Amino acid sequence: MDQKIKNTKQKIRQDLVLIKNIQDLDTLSTKYLGRKGEVNKLFQSLSPKEKATYGQKLNQLKNEIEKEVKKTKSLLLNVKPDKKIDITIPGIKPKEGHLHLLTQAIEEVEDIFRSLGFIRRRYPEVESDWYYAEGLNIPKDHPARDDQETFYVNKSVVLTAHTSNGQLREMERVKIPPIKMINIGKTYRRQASNTHSSMFHQFEGLMIDKDINITNLIGVSNYFVRSYFGPDREIRLRPHHFQFTEPSFEVDINCSLCKGTGKKNGKTCLVCKAGWLELGGAGMVHPKVLKNGGIDPNKYSGFAFGWGIERIVMMKHNITNNLRDLYLSDLRFLKQF
Ligand code: FA5
Repeated sequence: MDQKIKNTKQKIRQDLVLIKNIQDLDTLSTKYLGRKGEVNKLFQSLSPKEKATYGQKLNQLKNEIEKEVKKTKSLLLNVKPDKKIDITIPGIKPKEGHLHLLTQAIEEVEDIFRSLGFIRRRYPEVESDWYYAEGLNIPKDHPARDDQETFYVNKSVVLTAHTSNGQLREMERVKIPPIKMINIGKTYRRQASNTHSSMFHQFEGLMIDKDINITNLIGVSNYFVRSYFGPDREIRLRPHHFQFTEPSFEVDINCSLCKGTGKKNGKTCLVCKAGWLELGGAGMVHPKVLKNGGIDPNKYSGFAFGWGIERIVMMKHNITNNLRDLYLSDLRFLKQF
């Protein structure tokens, strides 16, 4: 009988662990203390001789079980129901980020040119000498190919220093004009200053068709600067020299602060000094380059331009300090825009 009492105690300990609510507890109580319960069964199994010794022990067992049941019941009744959820209380708003300034600009540039029918292309950043220079009419001794300016991977492979490498590749892809490409990508030069970094982004426009001339270049450029910077902006062309365009220009944009006058409150404008800011290079595609791209220069003509993404971002947001602030991922800087 001692063993049976021990077993019952062990069983009830195991059962108590599984109790989750009052109903479970009632079931347990009936199982052990009910008329046909475990304890009564033990009582009934006692012989008249055993009753004297074990009657008391079984009463003790019954009291212990009753105590446990009572304790568990008060525990169950004291459990506070879950706090009610008020679904009308406003939630905690997660902190919202935004696209990086450069990504925003790249998307905007793509959208503006797409609205004119230009298609965005991506061409290699690691480029062969032919597409990067030779095929663009840039001779071997040109300073742009100097290893003080250019990162060489080996003798004939470079990290491209401009997106103009996409020009011949696009001509080869399309074969028969019209071509309307906007090639946006990363470019690399061995340069470092507040306005120059060793990695930066350029966007290269290329339009080739029959009868394309400088007025088309001016029209597209003005459309871009008015869409990106605002309706009161315009460009001017300044003669320049690039090996792959003829004629070639630097494209300037009138300053937003002094409206192209170079003067603000009777003093020299602090942003531009002369009324105009340089946007980047442009020109009519050189006949040799068209030929290298497999296009007949007697039938077709075209213009190209290559401008810096960092440059237009700095101009738009009046970032005058340091171009490299754009790469620091410093939220105190980025949150301002
Ligand atoms: C070119 O790269 C020519 N390929 C542009 C071109 C394309 C001319 C098609 C004609 C026809 P340039 O070296 O001037 O040109 O660079 C163009 C622009 O890239 C600059 O005006 C400037 O905005 C940006 N840029 C150049 N070097 C850096 C640099 N190190 N860091 C940041 N931006 C730069």
